[in-house]
Amino acid sequence: MAESMKGLKRPCRGAELSKADIGREVTVMGWVAKNRNKGGIIFLDLRDRSGILQIIFEEESIGSEGFEKAAKLRSEFVVAVTGNVEARNGAINENLATGEIEVRAKQIRILSESLTPPFPIEENINTKEELRLKYRCLDLRRPDIQSNIIMRSKVATLTRAFLAKEGFLEIETPMLTKSTPEGARDYLVPSRVHPGKFYALPQSPQLFKQMLMVSGYDRYMQIARCFRDEDLRADRQPEFTQIDMELSFVDVDDVIDVNERLLAYLFKEVLDVDVKLPIQRMTWQEAMDRFGSDKPDLRFGMELKDISELVKNCGFGVFTSAIENGGSVRGINAEGMGDMPRKKIDALVDFAKGYGAKGLAYMAINEDGTVKSSFSKFMTEEEINSIVDALSGKPGDLLLFAADKNKIVWNVLGALRLELAEQKGLLDKNEYRFLWVTEFPQFEWSDEEERYVAMHHPFTMPMDEDLDMLETNPGAVRAKAYDIVLNGTEIGGGSVRIHQADVQERMFKALGLTEEVANEKFGFLLDAFKYGVPPHAGLAYGLDRLVMLMAKRDSIRDVIAFPKVKDASCLLTDAPNYVDDKQLKELSIEISGEEE
Ligand code: AMO
Ligand code: AMP
Repeated sequence: MAESMKGLKRPCRGAELSKADIGREVTVMGWVAKNRNKGGIIFLDLRDRSGILQIIFEEESIGSEGFEKAAKLRSEFVVAVTGNVEARNGAINENLATGEIEVRAKQIRILSESLTPPFPIEENINTKEELRLKYRCLDLRRPDIQSNIIMRSKVATLTRAFLAKEGFLEIETPMLTKSTPEGARDYLVPSRVHPGKFYALPQSPQLFKQMLMVSGYDRYMQIARCFRDEDLRADRQPEFTQIDMELSFVDVDDVIDVNERLLAYLFKEVLDVDVKLPIQRMTWQEAMDRFGSDKPDLRFGMELKDISELVKNCGFGVFTSAIENGGSVRGINAEGMGDMPRKKIDALVDFAKGYGAKGLAYMAINEDGTVKSSFSKFMTEEEINSIVDALSGKPGDLLLFAADKNKIVWNVLGALRLELAEQKGLLDKNEYRFLWVTEFPQFEWSDEEERYVAMHHPFTMPMDEDLDMLETNPGAVRAKAYDIVLNGTEIGGGSVRIHQADVQERMFKALGLTEEVANEKFGFLLDAFKYGVPPHAGLAYGLDRLVMLMAKRDSIRDVIAFPKVKDASCLLTDAPNYVDDKQLKELSIEISGEEE
């Protein structure tokens, strides 16, 4: 018995009404959030994306037929109600924007009915995420998810407006393209017209935006969908969205300047938060040494301390052998956690092992200044005191140490630092700590490929003063690459690009790419560069991650309308799925081997 909207017009959304509208006759439309029948009077909460509006039904104003209809309403029915806006008679609801008004119904139409939803359409429910994602259209109707999606739209709109004012042009780049150099696995699309050939979905618009600079567009931006076939995490989806940009005739500081102002603008407009400019900068080396991470969370301290010098001659083989093998011994001070029970310390050891540690040494400082430790028996009192001093240990503190190759030590202590901060409740989602991490290493050694690989991508410019080391000491070359970090999450990254053919050639050599392979992969870009390439640089944000943090959520799935789950499937549509044999045949594809 769904009725039509014929003759009705909605002047505004329900919760857009206010005290100023008292006395006005309006028609409001939306979903039944709650329906309380108190005998002669029915209170209905009407929901739409603007919020909740209370409607009152009494027989004397709506008539007996209308009243009966109202009594039949159930959750999530869609209704249109015409009536007068009145000041609330009863209790004013301070939790609602419309808490001082209500609409006294004169007419009601049921526009559609609803089955009982599989979970309540309310904020902060603890329904399993799988169920929510299967019924995502209902989940998206919940006010908290709705406000995330609305915030996301706002961020995108403001970004476009800000960058347009700064002279950026919005230009679309292809989705069906060739592999791009971001280092993840590609999603491939088979070509029907070219049997046996495939398009790759872009991992980013990187090569195209660089070509747009060659074409003279000067400042480009795009809110671009990117595809990467990698293991999913809370902050990683197989398809995600970048705020992507590229600028000509600029260096690092120019990119940072416009982006700091963009971030300040977004946080002010969306959250009314003042971002203090300039944003702090830290080199990659300093970030690793102090925080064990290239995306340090600066909302708390607990910095790493290198004690290698103090223990290189001590009697504890675990420490000395790590140092002898070119590694280091570093520690952190979990202040006030010295009374941690053995069981919880063991759990930390297991946690550390999950990050590649062979073990985790600890030292708890008792109230009387003596220590309880897994390794003190191998040390002199002097050595113990010097370690305690180095970590500013006080009675009641817990000191934790890792000894290994630097990379592992950083990884372990960086993760442990975050875990302990979480346990101590130090991570306040209302605090926003931004950081630029600069001077990343140009290369990273890949054990798997037995060669250097680009840490950002092969078009990233080395720092001028390190150019000479490209051939002699590639491991020490720093890049003009930068990441923007917020509360320990990398929300964006970019670099100055190489625009000199000779430097690019040396780069490919350092990466072990022959001219042939480089041309095969990126020939079209290298060719473009032969016709007048301006110096250029750029950056891309993960829009999903940025909005996740702005919305104070733990997962980007909460700010993406239709996200995928851990195994990259979509619970709503059941994608990916099998296709007809006919389709496969058209694509000249035969399935061999395993199917699910
Ligand atoms: P990069 O690979 O660092 O740089 O990506 C830029 C930003 O995109 C976000 N991001 C992701 N978000 C969700 N899910 C994913 N799987 C995912 N992967 C990356 C991150 C990251 O900081 N073309 C270069 C940028 C440039 O040099 O201009 C690029 O893509 O927030
Ligand atoms: P073991 O000699 O293996 O019994 O280790 C003695 C203590 O050192 C234990 O608390 C171990 O967890 C710790 N340990 C072992 N390997 C390491 C390491 N690489 N770094 C830090 N601590 C370690």
